[in-house]
Amino acid sequence: MTEEVRLIIVGFGVVARSLAGSLEARGEEFRRTRGIDFHLVAAVDSKSAAIDRNGLDVRELLRRKEETGRVGRRSLPATEIIEDTEADILVELTPANPLDAEPGMTHLKSAIKSSKHVVTANKMPLAHEYPSLMTSAESRGVQVRYSACVGAGLPILDFGDACAVSEPLLKVEGVLNATSNFVLSRMESDSSSFPEALEEAKKLGYAESNPWLDVDGVDSAAKIVIIANHTLKKSLTLKDVAIVEGIRRISPSRVKALREEGKKVRMVASVERRPEVRVLELPRGDPLSIDGACNVVKFHCKYSGERVVSGPAAGGVTTSSAVMRDLLRVGASIGGS
Ligand SMILES: NC(=O)c1ccc[n+]([C@@H]2O[C@H](COP(=O)([O-])OP(=O)(O)OC[C@H]3O[C@@H](n4cnc5c(N)ncnc54)[C@H](OP(=O)(O)O)[C@@H]3O)[C@@H](O)[C@H]2O)c1
Repeated sequence: MTEEVRLIIVGFGVVARSLAGSLEARGEEFRRTRGIDFHLVAAVDSKSAAIDRNGLDVRELLRRKEETGRVGRRSLPATEIIEDTEADILVELTPANPLDAEPGMTHLKSAIKSSKHVVTANKMPLAHEYPSLMTSAESRGVQVRYSACVGAGLPILDFGDACAVSEPLLKVEGVLNATSNFVLSRMESDSSSFPEALEEAKKLGYAESNPWLDVDGVDSAAKIVIIANHTLKKSLTLKDVAIVEGIRRISPSRVKALREEGKKVRMVASVERRPEVRVLELPRGDPLSIDGACNVVKFHCKYSGERVVSGPAAGGVTTSSAVMRDLLRVGASIGGS
């Protein structure tokens, strides 16, 4: 038995296009091995929309987006499409907006209101309103899944869940912003200035569309709020982050002096009682002093001590792999295997 699972993708940028490519390339594999037949019934970008209740031709959609910059010929409000199109899951992949989390917030609320599951890589709606969004989703009997919001493809939340199965978690701390970490590592390894290193991060596609989110600590603050809610079962929003420190004032001379002392400077987000983001000087051997466009997280477990997960955590392919992980989980819960 194969279960048809209908998707709406809102936001058709780097992550969504990588996801659509995988849906196209691996459709047969998912039907055969998971019993899930994904149908993309609508795709929306900032200027246009494409809808086909029988399933869009994904290859053609990707070609059109590449050639014209648009997914469709018509422009329709995303909320109307989310509420009026028969579908099982909204995949929300619009840009992270730290001010009011829009347009993602409205998209998530529209999906929940119309009893659709949500899979998202957009951290800001969750950082702004995690507790109330989860309460609404629960009351509607739908799932909200967000693996890709923390660690891109690195399964940080899953790792934390596994640690928490047998003992309480006391504290979580980590390097959660790959762009900032890339910038700091670059400044250390080849004495680049901050603007040079940031420019390179942008060129390599690591930075957010607004890179100040990364380097000013706001992206890390949003992620530690999600970890605090998900893993430590707290009830927090972005407003509860006590301290947020960024890296834009770090000079190459400070980085050089620290290197000579055997230390590194890193942006570390943590939560024990309240979440915070601080720029810390760490000894070279500290697991948090990881290099490059990576994330690393230490879970402090009550009995077994520190458990660490780390790895590359930026880019469309790795992020879309986490979105796919969530889609397969929701798909399994609604009839696949
Ligand atoms: N890229 C990564 O490595 C990464 C890692 C983890 C999490 N994320 C998160 O994943 C999400 C997507 O990231 P991305 O890199 O794919 O972003 P992106 O390349 O900037 O794409 C954003 C997409 O959203 C569309 N959009 C903007 N406003 C819209 C609106 N009002 N209605 C409908 N669509 C709208 C854009 O339309 P146009 O195409 O018309 O401009 C574009 O297609 C973000 O929230 C980001 O924080 C990304």
